[in-house]
This record gives sequence, C-alpha cells and structure tokens, in this order.
Amino acid sequence: MPAVAAQPWEWPISGASPSAAGALDALEASAEVRGAPADDGLEAVRAATDEVVVLDYGGQYSQLIARRVRECGVFSELLPHHVGAAEVARRRPKGVILSGGPASVYADGAPPLEPALLELGVPVLGICYGMQLIALKLGGRVRGAEVGEFGRSQLTVSEPGRLLAGTPAEQTCWMSHRDTVFAAPPGFVPLAASTASPVAAFESVERQVYGIQFHPEVVHTPYGQQVLTNFLTDICGCEQGWSAASVIEDQIARIRAQMDTDPPARAICGLSGGVDSSVAALLVHRAIGDRLTCVFVDHGLMRKNEGAQVIEAFRDQFEVPLVAVDAEDRFLTKLKGVSDPETKRKIIGAEFIRVFEEEAARLDDVDFLVQGTLYSDVIESGGGTGAATIKSHHNVGGLPEDLQFELVEPLRALFKDEVRAVGAELGLPERLVWRQPFPGPGLAIRVVGGQATKERLDILREADAILQEEIRRAGLYRDLWQSFCVLPDIRTVGVQGDERTYGNVIAIRAVTSDDAMTADWARLPYDLLEQIASRMINEIRPVGRVVLDITSKPPGTIEWE
Ligand code: XMP
Repeated sequence: MPAVAAQPWEWPISGASPSAAGALDALEASAEVRGAPADDGLEAVRAATDEVVVLDYGGQYSQLIARRVRECGVFSELLPHHVGAAEVARRRPKGVILSGGPASVYADGAPPLEPALLELGVPVLGICYGMQLIALKLGGRVRGAEVGEFGRSQLTVSEPGRLLAGTPAEQTCWMSHRDTVFAAPPGFVPLAASTASPVAAFESVERQVYGIQFHPEVVHTPYGQQVLTNFLTDICGCEQGWSAASVIEDQIARIRAQMDTDPPARAICGLSGGVDSSVAALLVHRAIGDRLTCVFVDHGLMRKNEGAQVIEAFRDQFEVPLVAVDAEDRFLTKLKGVSDPETKRKIIGAEFIRVFEEEAARLDDVDFLVQGTLYSDVIESGGGTGAATIKSHHNVGGLPEDLQFELVEPLRALFKDEVRAVGAELGLPERLVWRQPFPGPGLAIRVVGGQATKERLDILREADAILQEEIRRAGLYRDLWQSFCVLPDIRTVGVQGDERTYGNVIAIRAVTSDDAMTADWARLPYDLLEQIASRMINEIRPVGRVVLDITSKPPGTIEWE
C-alpha cells in the first residue's frame, strides 16, 4: 500500500475540550430528541456503577476487551461502532475504548471515527484499528507496512506516560495488524515502539486521548491488564467496585420493583438444566420466593442422571416450586420414524412448546416469564442499543413470541463466565454451574443418520456417562467447551473372546472453544482415550468400536447433525 500523506488536523489543539458533564448532557439531550430507547434491562446496573463503553469496530477480540474491563472491576458495555456518540453519551461513561477491527483505515467503507466521540469530555483509548483511526483523524501518519506484525512482538517503552506506567521498559505484547502508525498526531507523546511499529503507543493527557497498537486484552500481552487498569483507574478515574456478584442485590431489587404489584405478580420459568436458566430462576426465586414456579420438561433426551440433578437441586435444595414433567414417551412417540436432523429439531421444539404451554395453563395468574438471556444474546440482537429481545435459543425450547407474558431477564448484563460466578455465589451445585453447553434437542441429534429410539438413546447415554466420568476424573471437564458422544447409524465387525461381533460405533467429540463459532478438536491424552474406549466396549454390550473425531470448526461443526 502506498504511503499516504498526513491527514489535516481536525481538532484544534488550543480548543478547550468541552467539560465532561456538559458534553454528555448535550449529547444525551440529542439522543432524547431522537427518541432514546426505553430501559433495555441494563439501566439498574448502569445506575449503580461506573461504566466504560467499548465500541466494536469488528475485531475478533472486542468481547474480550469488554470482559477484561469487567475483570478490572469496571462495568462495560460493548456497542457497535455505528451507534453514534449520543448513544454512547446516554450511558454517561467514564471512558470509551475503540476496539480493533479487520479493515484498513484506508479501505473503502472502512468504519470511520465519529469526531464527536473525541469530544465527549471523557478519556478515549484506541486499540489497534481504534488507535489508527485516532492517529488518522488527529493528524498522525498511518500507512500499510511492507510486512504485517502478527503474534508475539517485543515492545520497547521509551516513555511510560500515564498509560504504560508501572510496566517494564522491555516487554512482550501481542500484535495483529498491517497498517501501522508511523508518526503520532501533533501534541501527542509517543510512548513505545516495537520491531514493526515505530509508534506502538501514544498519549495526549491534555486531550485525554490514548492509543496502543498491541492487544492488552489477550493473555499473550503480560502487562495488558496493567495497561487497562491504568486507563480505567488513573486515567478515567473509575471505581473498581463492579463484580458479577454485585449484580445480585441490584437485580433482586429490580425484580421486586417489577413484580411486587397489587396483587403480587407470579412468574414461570422453563428450566433446561443449563446454567443460564438455573441462575435466572434462582435470582427470581430470591426476589419473589414461591410466586415463581419452575417447569422442567424431561424430554427423555437428557444425559444420564441430568433430570434427577435438576430436580434435586431445585426442589430439594432450594425448595423452589417445581413442576417436573416426564414427557419421554410423548417425545419418543413423535420422533418415531424420523431420521432427518432438522425434522427432529422442529418436532422437539414444537412439542416442548406444547408441553410448556399446557403446564403454564395449569397455573393461575402468571404474568411473567423468566428467561436466561445473556449479554452475548443482547449484543447479537442489536448490540444493546435498546432493542428488546426474546431469547429464541433452543435451550429453553424456543418459546414462541406470542406467549402472553412479560419478560424478566435478570442476566441481560452478564457474560457466561459471570453467570457462572453468580451461580456459584447463589450456591448452585458445581455440576450445574460448570455444565458444558448442551443442545436443546439433546441426544436426539447425536443419534446420527437414524431414528432416536429409546434403545439407541440408552446406548448413547451410557457411552456419554462414561466419557463424562473419565473426563472429569482426568480434571479436564472445565477445559473443554464440549465433550460428548455420537452414535452413527452403522455397525462394524469385531471380535470379542472367540466370538465375531457386529457392534455399534461410538464417536468421541471433544472440542475447545471460546464461543462455539470456531472450535479446535481437543488433544485428549492417549491413556485417557484408551481408558474411555475400553470401558465403553467392556461395559456397554452393543458397542463394538470407538473412534475419535479430529475435525475442527471450520470446516466441521461441533455437532454431527
Ligand atoms: P455447531 O454444531 O453448529 O454447534 O457447531 C454450535 C453450538 O450450538 C449447539 N447446537 C445447538 N444448540 N439446539 C441448541 O440448543 C440445537 O439444535 C443445536 N445445534 C447445535 C452445539 O452443541 C454447539 O454448542
């Protein structure tokens, strides 16, 4: 890419930066004129804590930045870059972070930097693409380098400034860029350089604008958390008082405010056995006690003992009113003769709704439906810009939108790992807190290429139980995103004792992943694999062969159908 001339200075050096409160007020007012969105479920959290907004320019680590900010004890929201400065101002953030992104700042249609973001009167930190945007806008020099800088890099700090304070002169960092800042904007202090980045960090304390080329959010940048903490505390002046657990009391108060009506409102919650619906139910139960009824539909497609664990935890331990429906026969009858995976999914989804509606109809005066919507669902469905969402995730069976309930979604502000922390705080058993994701249609979509009959589901369930037991025993359960068995509809020949056998095949699928969008097959130790295979063949008579799936995603998917 050719060198590009420096951009004109767009923000006068001598111009006083507007006061934070004044600028935020003005922008907030303009948001109101445009019709600011109603409470999106996060207002209570915002009101109780300092916040930093992370603007997402499409980088692969954007969610991670938001999570790292929260790990520093500061609440953060991730918003798409195009929401506009008024939407950012509405949150009255103490600072703004511009994420990395895949585009070149010079590409046609590259996401631009809205100048008003630099005039909010609060500190702004640009990371990677975010830094390049700032450099370009404020008159620095950015161009495509001959060689990109990907992976570990050596950072030499010439002047720590406020941003890099307390970090060593020589340190490693993680880079992922081709465009590079060659000169900081006028009035900015260059703080550090790396082999391929002449200006790898800069700051202007006066204008409250900061930039780093490297990624502080990834573990390969050892001082990354320190840099983020410097920005959040010293530079933005945030209190580090936020934690997932601190949300509990706020949410309980919010639920009470919503439901302590006259007469007091009642709620229903569909439990799937997963951590989201379990934690959502427990929070609501804390708030309104027995006015919450949970419904657990056992469709007969769960893993071994899972139904019993849900019933034990909720009914016996937490004494939550629980309707447990044994619907195995209903589901298996509907699935008779069905081999096509999408048809299986549709049948299971539709039957789930039918059972849930029947149970809801038996309860009097229920106005509210509790859902375990997470912050990642909020991001996916419009980036927290206020759009109300109904979680259509299959884990709770994909309830239809026309159910006549008002929604209660106490986890809307939380990432998955934070939900686990809240679950642990609430005393949810370890098995439920750390349960790996499990598809709503359950084992039915793991009986591959054939019908999900009771006989085949039982073979799969037993094999799965052995896999889970051995993986837990090896201490690997939490390291894996998912680990499960698949039962394809084939038989293979074998020899056991002196007998020729013709048995089923069990495939082991174990993957590591952050979000299920991509996944790598897990390198399970050979000894563990041997132990799993020999137990399956010895303990489950119909199993004659065990194989390991070594496909990553992409090109494969995690599930087989
Ligand atoms: P794939 O197979 O697409 O799966 O790589 C990604 C994630 O989604 C889960 N999954 C489902 N979850 N209902 C669900 O609730 C489904 O029909 C379904 N299909 C896949 C899968 O287990 C993985 O976590």
